[in-house]
Amino acid sequence: MKGRSLLPLAIALCALPAAYAQTSAGQMKPVAYQVVDGNKVDNNTLQGWRTWRALACERCHGAKQEGLVGPSLVDAFKTLDKNEFHRTVFGGRVDKGMPDFSSSTMMQKNWENLYAYLKGRSDGKINPGDLQAIDAK
Ligand code: HEC
Repeated sequence: MKGRSLLPLAIALCALPAAYAQTSAGQMKPVAYQVVDGNKVDNNTLQGWRTWRALACERCHGAKQEGLVGPSLVDAFKTLDKNEFHRTVFGGRVDKGMPDFSSSTMMQKNWENLYAYLKGRSDGKINPGDLQAIDAK
């Protein structure tokens, strides 16, 4: 019985070596991240995670994105769409404690990658913590 109860899970894991985020409505590029084993991601998503680290979002949103003084982004990304994310990051909600990152070149280049990373975290497909490239040795 014990071994048998794990079988559906094992099948589900084998069937899903890579997960793709839902395509967002709107004219912007679709959000797609690719993840293997929870901690290996495509290069764009890797840049998104690096942006998260470089801009130290975890100071307020927590290292696992589960919230500190800022809200949990794991929760927020269940509903936050790309346009809303863009508005929040480029302009901030300064009166409420969310800084404006519009002057950051890294953010300008990588906001869609960061969106994909956070979507993957929220979907539970990408593990918290360090990531590496899918093709890394
Ligand atoms: C100095 C603290 C601080 C830092 C640093 C910070 N945030 Fe925030 N963030 C906040 C607070 C506080 C809010 C809630 C604002 C509000 O009440 O609407 C917020 C809100 C957000 C939201 C909207 C969540 C929702 O539910 O609508 C997103 C998305 C977000 N932050 C992303 C980021 C990202 C990405 C970074 C790093 C580039 C970052 N934040 C860095 C404090 C911070």
